[in-house]
Amino acid sequence: MKIRNRHGHFNLIAPFYDRFFGGMRHDLLLQHLDVQPGMVALDIGGGTGRVAQHVARRGGQIVIVDPSPVMLKEARHKGLPGVRALAEQLPFPANSIDRILIVDAFHHFARQEMAARDLMRVLKPGGRILIEEPDLRFTGTKLIAVMEKLALMQTHFMSPPDLAALFEAHGARLIDILVENINATIILTK
Ligand SMILES: C[S@@+](CC[C@H](N)C(=O)[O-])C[C@H]1O[C@@H](n2cnc3c(N)ncnc32)[C@H](O)[C@@H]1O
Repeated sequence: MKIRNRHGHFNLIAPFYDRFFGGMRHDLLLQHLDVQPGMVALDIGGGTGRVAQHVARRGGQIVIVDPSPVMLKEARHKGLPGVRALAEQLPFPANSIDRILIVDAFHHFARQEMAARDLMRVLKPGGRILIEEPDLRFTGTKLIAVMEKLALMQTHFMSPPDLAALFEAHGARLIDILVENINATIILTK
């Protein structure tokens, strides 16, 4: 699958991205991600490494996977390794990854079902996937979804139960759905 320039706007905003979104806290998310020494963790659609840098600071090893070369360059400046790839076609063997983090990115994936299938393929049995997304059950998120449609951003938001069901159809088991402000974190295992 070709990595198209559909992600061009992220190349444009990459140098400023952390200035807008960098201040947010992710303590609960990182606590549940629980990256232990020796584990292989991926931040899919990890962009500039805004969230992954906190995993690294806690001693965890995490690799950013993202199609945008400029977002990945920003991550490299933070000392974070990156792989240019799509969630739909991950360059990793089956059952090889302990932890997968996806923050504010799943609604940008062009082929969500294909992504769910490939994410479940690479996850080890007993591994964990954490997906943080704006919760579509809130009016604020519905407004964001409409605004992004009007801006022709080609995003597709799902409600947390629908997202969980999509992964369950590919062999995941739902552990929990945590809601904080207008974000939901869906925690899944295999
Ligand atoms: C809103 S940014 C979020 C970045 C980061 N997760 C954060 O929270 O700071 C969405 C990211 O998803 C990436 N992305 C878009 N489509 C993708 C796909 N199909 N597979 C993997 N990443 C993708 C974009 O390049 C961008 O870096």
